[in-house]
Amino acid sequence: MELKVKLPGEIKALFALAGGEEIRYCSPFDINSSGKYCESSYGVLTTMRLLIIEEGRIAYEMPLTGLTSIKCESQVNNGILVVTQKQDGMARHVARFSMKHISRFASIAKGGMLLLEGSDRLVENREYEKTCPKCGRALPGTRECPKCEGKNVTLLKFVRLCSNYKKQFVMVALMMLFSSVVGLAGPMFQQRFIDNTLMSDHGSVREVIQFTLIMAVITVLSIVTRYLRSLWSAKLGAGISMDIRGRLYQKMQVLTLSFIQDRRPGELMNRINNDSANIRRFMEDAFGSIFYLLVLMTGAIIVMLTISPGLTLLSIVFLPLAVALSVGFRKVIHRKFHMQYSRGDDNNSALQDVISGIRVVKSFGKEKYESDRFKTISASYAGIQKKNEVFWASFYPMLTFIMGMGIYFVTALGGLKTLDGGLSVGQLLQFTTYATMLYGPLGWMTHLPRMIIQMLTSLERIYDVLDEQPKIRNRENPVSREIQGSVVFKDVCFGYRSYETVLEKINFEIRKGEMIGIVGASGTGKSTLINLVMHLYDVDDGELLIDGMNINEYRIEDFHRQLGVVLQETFLFSDTILNNMRFARPDATYEEIIRAAKMANAHDFICKTPNGYNTYVGEKGYNLSGGERQRIAIARAILNDPKLLILDEATSSLDTESEYLIQKALQRLTAGRTTLAIAHRLSTLKDADRLIVIDGHRIAECGSHNELLEKKGIYYNLVTAQLQMQTLKEGNGSGSV
Ligand SMILES: Nc1ncnc2c1ncn2[C@@H]1O[C@H](COP(=O)(O)OP(=O)(O)OP(=O)(O)O)[C@@H](O)[C@H]1O
Ligand SMILES: [Mg+2]
Repeated sequence: MELKVKLPGEIKALFALAGGEEIRYCSPFDINSSGKYCESSYGVLTTMRLLIIEEGRIAYEMPLTGLTSIKCESQVNNGILVVTQKQDGMARHVARFSMKHISRFASIAKGGMLLLEGSDRLVENREYEKTCPKCGRALPGTRECPKCEGKNVTLLKFVRLCSNYKKQFVMVALMMLFSSVVGLAGPMFQQRFIDNTLMSDHGSVREVIQFTLIMAVITVLSIVTRYLRSLWSAKLGAGISMDIRGRLYQKMQVLTLSFIQDRRPGELMNRINNDSANIRRFMEDAFGSIFYLLVLMTGAIIVMLTISPGLTLLSIVFLPLAVALSVGFRKVIHRKFHMQYSRGDDNNSALQDVISGIRVVKSFGKEKYESDRFKTISASYAGIQKKNEVFWASFYPMLTFIMGMGIYFVTALGGLKTLDGGLSVGQLLQFTTYATMLYGPLGWMTHLPRMIIQMLTSLERIYDVLDEQPKIRNRENPVSREIQGSVVFKDVCFGYRSYETVLEKINFEIRKGEMIGIVGASGTGKSTLINLVMHLYDVDDGELLIDGMNINEYRIEDFHRQLGVVLQETFLFSDTILNNMRFARPDATYEEIIRAAKMANAHDFICKTPNGYNTYVGEKGYNLSGGERQRIAIARAILNDPKLLILDEATSSLDTESEYLIQKALQRLTAGRTTLAIAHRLSTLKDADRLIVIDGHRIAECGSHNELLEKKGIYYNLVTAQLQMQTLKEGNGSGSV
């Protein structure tokens, strides 16, 4: 996200920078002090002061030395920038903005606080930009704005990718060259045959047969070369698109969770499947043909010039006009395609949502609602497709007509010239055949801008993913070390969004082999805390140490391999139970898998499934219950023999009896391993060495079960509430808590 948006000249002219002063951050905002939509309004933070420019005039100006804090606060559907002045200690809001600007202002406020603390550190924001900071248009699912950014950079990257396919390119080019020569030869023989055989007095039968044979050979050659041309073009297109699909897939595996979560699954699937298919189509249909036609047209023009330079000029005089029109409309067409693809993403995402959430849809009886919703999205997609096609259907014939006008002039003037004896009949026929060769492809070439732009649009969407740098990536010389399991949080702060704090100044030390229970109300950040320990996200501030070393120093793959994780939402692949368990350790033996399953109390139910360990889970297979899935996930974690075990509601879907067995299994499992366990059912965590209670973004309480009960604080209240619930349920004769 751009944190230093370019200021228009008239805004810059409002204030002069002092010597040594520079603009650090600036962002537009869109709600004025009367709560109305406004333009020409900017928040500017220089190295020396904060300026708020509202509707083209300075509304607030304060040197940084006069401030004690700068904060961005989120409110319902908008955000405000709040400053506290040294002089009166009062907090006042100086700018209000819609949600599209809030993330930028949150980073600016953070940058401001750093400046106030005397730090020169620059704040970065990798959040996804929804509108272009330059032109304000909505971005069609890419980081770069198709209107403001040049295409050449993307094209250059593509050329680099293509350099792996040199052999295929050379073969396609050779076939093109050969095809064009074969294509150009026909009319030459035709001209000679007409002028020297048919129109002369001494033509012979032998010459007629000879000409027929030559034409037959040319036809066969052209068929063979066309076949080889298509074959190599297909090899080239399929190779490149497979390469792109592979790279996209690989990239998505290493990208930070936040990047994936910012985009809908349907959108990302579209990029892997449809956009790479667009590139393949271009390489197959357009790329080869462009080269072939260019050679053919150049050859045709050269031969035409030798026959009649005047007529040739007349033939091509309308060309520049058509080219100018195509170029002029390029930008319009480009935006249209981006819009169309973006609607395609909506369509795909809605479809994917409904298919994966079909149980919810059915259980709420929302089939009609979902069908109607899909119809609306689909209609919008179809609408934009139709609009684009209508535009194209009117633009294309106009171009073809302008370009084709030359042929009428050529026929008329060429005919007159032949009557005067300036051209032979054979030459006229040869000339008009070449002119048709010129105009035929020209008609096709008018489609070229569309094809190129379609390809460029897809390329931009592909490179948007490929160019993304994963925020969490291996440092230089990452450390591969066996972890022992001590974890230290030092002033750790974290939020998924720059303007929303989830965890603030967390300080905590977990010793090797300890079992820690994490407790707190829903949404307080328990899962977030363990997401940080799993290094799925980077901390915003502070440090997270594993065995005394910063978590960032570890080689990510090695670190993850040493974790054992059972998450809140158990995910199993559409594969056999055996392979799902082997996912943790592909080299695990059958005996090890059975032992792990027995420990997780999963063996018995697995044996009862139709094919035992070879039963398919999910799609087209055996559907497992929540508790069964969870036990497989536990077995999967056990198999990995992790040093650091993370259990997020690992026992939530179990009945009391299974829970008891699992508890026993977990006791064996957690011995000697550092364990971080989250559970809503607090009885599960009674045996934990220590419990931490998260409340109000911080660790509110910490201690053993008994210590916390004695404290009579948040934990005590949670336990009492659960006991009351239990008594209530038992009173009603239903199950346990
Ligand atoms: N991927 C995400 N992007 C943005 N916000 C998120 C994301 N995941 C969680 N949050 C927010 O962060 C806060 C903490 O969420 P978290 O999942 O850590 O809560 P929790 O304590 O585990 O709750 P629960 O007990 O219900 O599982 C919540 O306000 C949630 O809305
Ligand atoms: Mg959670």
